[in-house]
Amino acid sequence: MPGLEEVKKIRIPHLAEAKRDGHKITMLTAYDQPTAAIFDAAGIDLLLVGDSMGNAVLGHADTLPVSLDDCLRATRAVAAGARRALVVADLPFGSYEASPERCFDSAAALMKAGAQAVKLEGGRRVAAHIALTSGAGIPVMAHLGFTPQSVNALGGNRVQGRDRASAERLIEDALAVEAAGAFAVVLELMPTRLAGRVTAALGIPTIGIGAGGATDGQVLVWTDMAGLADWAPSFVKRFGQVGAALRDAASAYADAVRQGSYPDEAHSFPD
Ligand code: KIV
Repeated sequence: MPGLEEVKKIRIPHLAEAKRDGHKITMLTAYDQPTAAIFDAAGIDLLLVGDSMGNAVLGHADTLPVSLDDCLRATRAVAAGARRALVVADLPFGSYEASPERCFDSAAALMKAGAQAVKLEGGRRVAAHIALTSGAGIPVMAHLGFTPQSVNALGGNRVQGRDRASAERLIEDALAVEAAGAFAVVLELMPTRLAGRVTAALGIPTIGIGAGGATDGQVLVWTDMAGLADWAPSFVKRFGQVGAALRDAASAYADAVRQGSYPDEAHSFPD
């Protein structure tokens, strides 16, 4: 099979085929229509309406304050910008953990808003949630390793699975989410070798973030990857300087207004 870049519209079965054929899967977060349309046109395979919107664009310290309404609004916008990419929406903290039924209800709301799949955090503790939701026809992506919604319990943004026992637990969790029906799993902040072991143990694709190059695909928070903010985690490579470009555009605009060179005749309406 040709690489995913040849596929006109990404659908869930393409991801398993990509893993089988050794083609890497690309994923970026998006929180609004214009960035979704730009990333879609750039050929990104999966757009994640991540609850990272909390710290990336909503001004929160972490993802915990993000509500289902925040994710629904962003999902509608991203779905409006995506033509080829598959839209995955995050189930935010508090919208699914209490029961498999609660998980299904929140996932169904995200699907009605335009998502084509949902993502949740956790392993064996959410296996029943994944089973009910995916069994009802909603594709579910799992998320293991550093799980940002558990930042308080984990004691900060720490690399996971460094010791043997926690590495074995992580592999057990990965096998459990696959058995429950997840179609893919995000692996965040873990040693490259462990991410490689999980990737080899699973039939479903793994998408890494801060987990090295042995996973089936990669995901980054777009504001980190494109350099919107001044700071980004150490595993992030900056592929652009969008923050500096915006700052330059804003100060050129302000200078032109102050000097009276904007608006000029070319940008005004004659009588
Ligand atoms: O919300 C998000 O952006 C995520 C990524 C870190 C995978 O979950």
